[in-house]
Amino acid sequence: MEEKMKVMGVVGSGQMGSGIAQLGVMDGLDVWLVDTDPDALGPRNLLFVSIMSFGWLRLSPNLLVEILLSESLICIPQMAVGTDAPRRLRCTSNLKDLHSADIIVEAIVESEDVKKKLFSELDKITKASAILASNTSSISITRLASATSRPCQVIGMHFMNPPPLMKLVEVIRGADTSDETFRATKALAERFGKTVVCSQDYAGFIVNRILMPMINEAFFTLYTGVATKEDIDAGMKLGTNQPMGPLQLADFIGLDVCLSIMKVLHTGLGDSKYAPCPLLVQYVDAGRLGKKRGIGVFDYRRVPESVKP
Ligand code: NAI
Repeated sequence: MEEKMKVMGVVGSGQMGSGIAQLGVMDGLDVWLVDTDPDALGPRNLLFVSIMSFGWLRLSPNLLVEILLSESLICIPQMAVGTDAPRRLRCTSNLKDLHSADIIVEAIVESEDVKKKLFSELDKITKASAILASNTSSISITRLASATSRPCQVIGMHFMNPPPLMKLVEVIRGADTSDETFRATKALAERFGKTVVCSQDYAGFIVNRILMPMINEAFFTLYTGVATKEDIDAGMKLGTNQPMGPLQLADFIGLDVCLSIMKVLHTGLGDSKYAPCPLLVQYVDAGRLGKKRGIGVFDYRRVPESVKP
C-alpha cells in the first residue's frame, strides 16, 4: 500500500496540519490541505516550506525553539515564494477534493464528536483503499474507526509539534487496525525521516499520558502560588534540561488542546489525578489559548514601536 502512495490529504490546516502537509510536500507527495476556515489556508502554510527550503533544520533544537517562538516568522512566508515545493500543495475547503488521496491525515480540533463526524464523511468520499489516519493527541482510535465502514484502515499517526522539526511519530493501532495499514503508516512516517514508536489505544497514548500531567501540574504549581510562572519554567528548563519550560510549552501546544487532552485522560482513565487545573480552564475560558492567540500564560504580543514610551 505504502509504495503506491502519491497523494496525501490533510484535514485541518492549523499548527499541526500545515506542518504535516509540508512534510508530504517536501517528500514529493501531492498534498491536498483542507480546512473549513479560509483564513487557515493562507500564507502561513508556506511557513515550514520556507524553513526547510532554507536549511534551517540543521539548527540546534534550542535555537529552533527560539525561532519558532519569535515573531520574526511572520515575514518568512514571502521568502518561500519561488521555491518549487508549494506547487505540490493545494489548499481547498472542499472535502471531496480528497477523492484521489491514498492516505488522509486528520488534524482538526481535539473533539471526539467532531472527529467522528469527519471520519464518517471521509469514509464516504475517499477511495476504498485509502488509509484514514488521525493526528489526535489522545482520543481513542477504535472509537474514531467505529464511525467508518473500514476500521481496519483507520490508525493514529501522531506527529509532534512542529511536525517538520520533531523527530517522533507515535503510531496507534485501533482494535481492528490491520497489519497492512500499520506497516504502510509506519513506512510513510519513516519516509518523512521520523522515528516511530507504537502505542496501544489508551487515552493519551505514550507521550501525552506522561507530558500532559506534567503540564497540568505546572499549572497547579502556579495556581497554588508555589512560584511565579517565570521561576516554574526556569526551574524545569534548567533543572531537568528541557528546551522550554512546561508553561511555555503549553502555550506553544495551545491551552485549548492541553485542556481537551486532560479531559480525555480524566474521563478515559477514570482517575481524579488527571482533573484539569482550574487555572488552565480559566485561561481557555478567557480565550488565552497560547502562542497562536498571542497570549496564554505568557504574552507574545508585541507593543508597536509607535506606542512605546
Ligand atoms: P489548531 O486549532 O491549530 O487547528 C485546527 C484546524 O482545524 C483549524 O484551522 C480549524 O479551522 C480546522 N478545522 C476544525 N474543524 C474542521 C473540520 N471539520 N474540517 C476541516 N477543518 C477543520 O489545532 P492543532 O494544534 O493543529 O491540533 C490539531 C490536532 O492535532 C488536534 O487533534 C490536536 O490534539 C493534535 N495535536 C496537536 C499538537 C499541538 O502541539 N498543538 C501536537 C500533536 C497533535
